[in-house]
Amino acid sequence: MMSASVNPRVLGYLGRALSHELSAVQQYLTQSKLVEAWGLLEAAGRLRDEAAEEMGHAERIIARMIALGVAPSASQLRPAQFGANLAECLQKNHCVELDAIALYEDALRYCRRIQDRDNGAFFETLWQEELAHGRAMAQWCATVGLATASGRRAFF
Ligand SMILES: [Fe+2]
Ligand SMILES: [Fe+2]
Repeated sequence: MMSASVNPRVLGYLGRALSHELSAVQQYLTQSKLVEAWGLLEAAGRLRDEAAEEMGHAERIIARMIALGVAPSASQLRPAQFGANLAECLQKNHCVELDAIALYEDALRYCRRIQDRDNGAFFETLWQEELAHGRAMAQWCATVGLATASGRRAFF
């Protein structure tokens, strides 16, 4: 399955996007199970929800690639990153969200340059959703950081 009409660099962005989203799913699910083992059930549920959101992104990217006549082939699944406590996990996750924002912003800018409106709109939606993720993750980090600073041991 190969598309002759789609810009190869746009296909490259889609492939990187799929690798990113599946890596995020692996990381958030791993952390969900880890913090569940620490007894942090609310955080575990929230991380599971985050994984489901990233899975939704992966699904949309796969659907887009199929529609463009390209075989989805994420080839760069990153090892799940985590930490010794919830705060450290969330810091790693914030980095994941910042990576996504940078990737989609780059893809969007390129699509605008070559006047590929359809794919530009596709990447712009993902970019905006990742901006919201990034803000939410930063807020969660701040909440955990404040709680940690107050001396509570609930995060281990
Ligand atoms: Fe995502
Ligand atoms: Fe995200």
